[in-house]
Formats: sequence, structure tokens, C-alpha cells
Amino acid sequence: MPEDFANEYSMHTHTCGELRRENIGQTVTLTGWVARRRDHGGLIFVDLRDRTGITQVVFDPDTAKDCFELGERMRPEWSIEITGFVRERPEDTANPDLPTGEIDVVVNECTILNESATPPFPLDDDIDTDELTRMKWRYLDMRRTPVAEALRLRDTVTWAIRNALHERLFIEVETPILGKSTPEGARDFIVPSRTNPGHFYALPQSPQLFKQLTQIGGIERYYQVARCFRDEDLRADRQPEFTQVDIEMSYVTEDDVMTMMEDVLAEVFKAVGINDVSFPLDRVQYAEAMARYGTDRPDRRFGMELVDISDIVKDCGFKVFSGALANGGVVKAINAKGAGDWPRAQIDKLGDLALEWGAKGMAWIQFRSEGKVNSPITKFFTEEEIEAIKTALDVEPGDLVMFGADSTAVVNEVLGNMRLHMAHAMGLVEPGTHDLCWVVNFPMFRYDEDEKRYAAEHHPFTRVRDEDLDRIESDPLSCGSYSYDIVMDGFEMGGGTIRIHTPELQRRILRQIGMDDAQIDEQFGFLITALGFGAPPHGGIALGLDRLVMLIGGYASIRDVIAFPKTSSGADPMTGAPGEVSKRQLKEANISINL
Ligand code: AMO
Ligand code: AMP
Repeated sequence: MPEDFANEYSMHTHTCGELRRENIGQTVTLTGWVARRRDHGGLIFVDLRDRTGITQVVFDPDTAKDCFELGERMRPEWSIEITGFVRERPEDTANPDLPTGEIDVVVNECTILNESATPPFPLDDDIDTDELTRMKWRYLDMRRTPVAEALRLRDTVTWAIRNALHERLFIEVETPILGKSTPEGARDFIVPSRTNPGHFYALPQSPQLFKQLTQIGGIERYYQVARCFRDEDLRADRQPEFTQVDIEMSYVTEDDVMTMMEDVLAEVFKAVGINDVSFPLDRVQYAEAMARYGTDRPDRRFGMELVDISDIVKDCGFKVFSGALANGGVVKAINAKGAGDWPRAQIDKLGDLALEWGAKGMAWIQFRSEGKVNSPITKFFTEEEIEAIKTALDVEPGDLVMFGADSTAVVNEVLGNMRLHMAHAMGLVEPGTHDLCWVVNFPMFRYDEDEKRYAAEHHPFTRVRDEDLDRIESDPLSCGSYSYDIVMDGFEMGGGTIRIHTPELQRRILRQIGMDDAQIDEQFGFLITALGFGAPPHGGIALGLDRLVMLIGGYASIRDVIAFPKTSSGADPMTGAPGEVSKRQLKEANISINL
């Protein structure tokens, strides 16, 4: 694409980022915002800013008095158009920090396109304005380079994905937003239907069922950059509406889907200049990820793995450990190398964190670098037990070993979190480095303690592994599934499965998660019927686009890569959404409010 497109279809002949020494002597027209204005007695200097950069323009009363008078009035964020000639900046005034710093433009024509109210915060690149204020004034925040850069990065990534998928003969198909509930484990956002009183649409948590139906419809390779809606508690990596790159393919195995995804990601990384990721990616078994990292989204950029020491301590004199084991739990430990000399107060703070994450306590042993051992629990152990722990955790002087004793789930949660916390506190991850892997073979079911029933670990359209088909009813927790998550830098960046493609198996799985046939027919009858029309074997994946862009750009939150994000309570401080609606709207929707 010719560079010149920047100035096609536009009032300006050049952008504010492009003028260089070669342009000296040319007459140019620029448009933009007044970023800064300096009055140097006889001359006024304005830093003119557009999306590409900043050019200094000079108002000189000897060149154009009328323009100079306008320049005197200008204030930050006024929108202006100027015409002038490019000159070399006088000696000693060149700005080497600015790409356009060798030149400036002396104005001989000027139009004020629009004045501006005083911005609520300075629109400089480095500001410490709080995020809520920036969200309330997001359109101003967007004029700042960091925000604009994030949106451009998002565009580059999305474009590379679309291009790579299009080349591989995927077609983008749009699916409905007003639909029926698709369970992905969160609450639905619901929309009342005016024309069907008492009936509601659900906004899609993902296009899952529709994308499967496209396969029954013969599309064979579907994708969609799809907006998804989930009413769940928000975190830095969760928004109530977010974007998936949603993909589905027919006549494929897990290998095909994973290989396709790797090929597409390779093109994305090339487009954004990431070259430290090599393909094919490692495939980590779900069980192994849980055992070694305590989580199904391991950050493998540093060690500090969880070590099961149950065998070593099963007969020890420390009741907390032996008791946990007697109750069917585990004892695991991590070694934070280099934290062996941390002061007691700091270690106590780690204990408080462990309590917040659900532990009943956090035992620890400090191996100080001068050789002393410091710990509230060593008195309960024999010398052999301590030696065995040291060997298992590769302990050297200067190490801090932390223990978890509880059910496997609690220990994994607590030590998995502690591992991340320590890595962060000790700066173990080099910023800008990346690690991707697949986590595969998730269990098909988990037991939902709250609802006292089995639930699908991924979603109930996932195919059970062939070798486990006869245990769906008799031993559901032992059934594996054809499933794969893609993990990037410790975040679940995407996930998918091979689907059930026969009506009988689909019904069995839905029954197993506690639905009776009437409920199945009411909620998923259309899917089961469709599967009965020669549905091809199919499977797919969905990437969290917001998360991918956040990780590529090294941002702290997906809010940073969303043009108009929502706060943690799901509100938009700019428009005021969600808001009240008029009595008439409520009446038309047959809704009454009981507050
Ligand atoms: P899943 O529920 O794992 O799978 O979602 C896929 C990916 O979407 C991203 N994601 C989110 N991003 C931001 N905010 C959220 N609230 C949020 N929730 C999920 C994650 C996640 O990995 N239909 C299946 C996919 C399939 O089976 O093909 C699905 O939606 O990065
Ligand atoms: P106590 O004997 O209860 O005072 O505990 C001694 C040490 O063991 C303290 O450091 C506690 O924080 C720790 N501790 C208690 N319960 C657990 C547990 N379930 N897992 C790991 N450490 C624990």
C-alpha cells in the first residue's frame, strides 16, 4: 500500500509525523490539535499533534500577522489547520528526541477548525491520571500515544489473524447476538422481547452452538471475530463483553486444530515482531500442569515448581502435615530461591496471603545464606526428613521453602498463587519474554459442590475420549476429553475441544450434568436434531483476542487494549451505562422493577 494514502482523502498534504530535512522548502498543509503552545515574545511556537506525531509550527507576525493573532489565542486541544513552509530549525534548536525535530513549519495561513474546552487532564504520553478519569474521558485519552498505540497493535493482530485464516480458506460468518442461552459457565445477559411478552433473548457467551451448526451446514472452515457477553465477576483479564477469534473446522482431529492455530499465531507474531516463540508448542498434560504448577495455565518462564513431599512427611511428627495426609490430602512445597534472608515480617505477610487464597496456614523453612536454619516447624521433623525435603526441593543456602498441607485443590491453588506472587516480587520474569504451551486432556467433568451435580469442565458439547465412553455414567470423574487450552505467559489465552457429533452421545452427556430429557429437548433440542442430519466430526477453538493483544503488548489489563472498556462493576463511566430506562420502555417490554 503506498505510504501516500496517509494524505489521500484529507485536508492535509502531510501528517504531523512525517516531515524531515528532505521536505525543507516545501509548502505543506497540516491539521491537528494544539499539544503545547509557547509564547517567545515575538514568536509563538505550537506543537501540532495528530495520530502520527508532532510537528512544531511557528507563528511569526512578520510572515502572517493575522495568523500570529490566532496563534496568540490558541489553547491546548484546539483543532487547527495550517499552511506554511518547511524550514530547517535554527541552529541549536533542533530536537533530537522528535522524528520531525530537525524542521519546523512557518505558518502563512491558519484556520481554527474548533476550539476546545480545557481538558480534564493533560494529554501527555506520561501521566499518572487515575484510570477511572481516563475512562470517563476515553476519547481524550485516546489522543495520547500509548492508547492509540494499543489500538493500532490490536488492529495489526486482528488483521494478521484474519489474513492468515482467509488464506487457509476459512470464511468469516456472523452469528446472532440475540439468541438462546449458550452455557459457557457464566451468567447470561438477558434481553426482553417486546413482541414475545415474558420471553427473553440471551446474549451469546460465545457463538459455540452456532459455529457447530455452520459445520452441519457444510461451511467446513468457519471463523468469526466475535463479541461475547458474560455476566461474571470482572478481573484484569475479564470484561463483561470481550472478543474471541472463534474458529470451527470439520473432519479434524485435535492435532489439526492445534497445528492450524500454531500456524496462524506464527503469522501474528511475525507481524508484531515477536521472535522468541518457536513452534510446535509443547503439549502439557492437564494433570501434569496441575501437579507441577498448581494451575491449568502455567507460567513456565521461571522454575519454582510445586514438589509433592507427601511421601517424605507421611509419618512425621507435625500433625498439620500428617493430619492433612490422613484426610486424603497432600503436602507440597515450593522453593523460592533467594528469599532465604527475607525478614520475618515479610514472610508473615506471605502467610497472610496464603490465608486469603484459602490455606489454613503456611509453614516455611528459611535456609539463611550464612547457613542457619530458621523455621517454626523444623522441631517436628527428624534430621532425615529435613534432608529428604532439602534434596526434593534442591535447597541451597539462601532459599525459602513454603509448604501447603490440605486437599489437593487447596494446596494447588495456594502454592500456585504463591509461586506467581514470589516470581513477581523477586522479578524472575524478564519483561517482554513469552512462553506459550498447550494444556491438553482436561477431564470431561468436575463435581460442582454448590449445585451438588456434575458439570462439564469445558462445555457439555465436548467429546469424551473414546476409551472412556463406557464410564460416563459409572465413573464420570475419570473420563477424559478431547480438549486443549493455549496458555501464554500464565494466562488462558484460548481454548477448544473436539465436539460431540452424534445425537445419542450428546444426550448422554447432558443427562450426566443433571438435565432430564424434557429440559434437554427444550434447551438443546435444535442441536440434537441437527446432529442427527449427518453432522460431520468437528472441533475448534476460541482465542481471547483482548488477552492476546494485552500479552503481546505487555499491558497490565485487557482494559488497556479495548477502545471503550468497562470498570470492574461493569459500568461505563463515560456514557453512564448501565442506566435506567423510561417507564414506557419498561411497559413495552412487559417488565416491572421490584427494588
Ligand atoms: P472459553 O470459555 O474458554 O471457550 O473462552 C475462550 C477464550 O475467551 C477468553 N475469555 C475472556 N476474555 C475476556 N473476558 C472474559 N470475560 C473472557 N472469558 C473468556 C479467554 C478464553 O480462553 N466456545 C468455547 C471455545 C470452543 O470450545 O471453541 C469458549 O468460549 O481467552
Ligand atoms: P501451628 O502448629 O498451627 O501453629 O502451625 C505451625 C505452622 O504451620 C505455622 O507456620 C502455620 O502457618 C503452618 N500451617 C498451619 N496449617 C497449615 C497448612 N494446612 N498447610 C501449611 N502450613 C500450615
